Amino acid sequence: MKVIETISAMRADVQSARAAGKTIGLVPTMGALHAGHVSLIDAARAACDYVIVTIFVNPTQFAPTEDLGAYPRTPEADLAACRGHGADAVFMPGVAEMYPPGALTDVRVRALGERLCGRDRPVHFGGVCTVVAKLFNIVPADKAFFGQKDFQQTVVIKRMAADLNFPVEVVVCPTVREADGLAMSSRNAYLTPAQRRQAPAVYGALQVGREMISRSHPPAREVIEAMRGRLAAQAPEGQIDYVAVVNPDTLDDVETTGGPVAIALAVRLGRARLIDNIVISSQ
Ligand code: PAF
Repeated sequence: MKVIETISAMRADVQSARAAGKTIGLVPTMGALHAGHVSLIDAARAACDYVIVTIFVNPTQFAPTEDLGAYPRTPEADLAACRGHGADAVFMPGVAEMYPPGALTDVRVRALGERLCGRDRPVHFGGVCTVVAKLFNIVPADKAFFGQKDFQQTVVIKRMAADLNFPVEVVVCPTVREADGLAMSSRNAYLTPAQRRQAPAVYGALQVGREMISRSHPPAREVIEAMRGRLAAQAPEGQIDYVAVVNPDTLDDVETTGGPVAIALAVRLGRARLIDNIVISSQ
């Protein structure tokens, strides 16, 4: 497995793989790899001939008040995981390589990036789109793999890829969960033992919502109220950023739950901001 730090070497590597007739799978990550990331590498391995994982803690998707400095960094374990799961190359650029001085361009997906998490994290999706656009240009892949846990991110990236004509298929892979339902996330490492015991309430609230919708399609506000009740009861330390029932394509709030909907929520538990979602596409 190659470990590549410069854009020029990454471009040369992907070009030679393409020249050899290989299909390219891209797995963008910020490292601190867990079983969710590994499932993306496995999916890329199964679907593509040449698998490239990127590991870059992207500063532009963090606001100055957020956890860029504290974000977990585990490069040795990450490389071992990539090697163990058959990645062909890992792209690990430094900040100066990705953002040389003088850069003035960023990429923003209006509306979609401003809803849900975008309300509490107004710079986040601009940073995500900018870095993912750069990665799509550096590694022209056939398929790029993202986790469903970051549901809004997948919607925003699909829109950006379509709007900017990136010839890449955005593949969304299922959320990987701990045994008690907590969605895997690098930020779960921030939870204290007491907060960790409360954290499964996030998925529990989603299940409350899903059961209500499949049983009787109640108005969205009733679903939200019941989910908030579950969170208050089972995660008393949690501070809810949002609980929402939205159209899965536009991310607009919906009032009724008879059609396809996504239920999404973000809850702060101590230093961790936990997000999770369920998409109910056919009813
Ligand atoms: O999901 C992530 O880990 C990041 O947002 C991504 C897509 C790698 C961009 O930095």
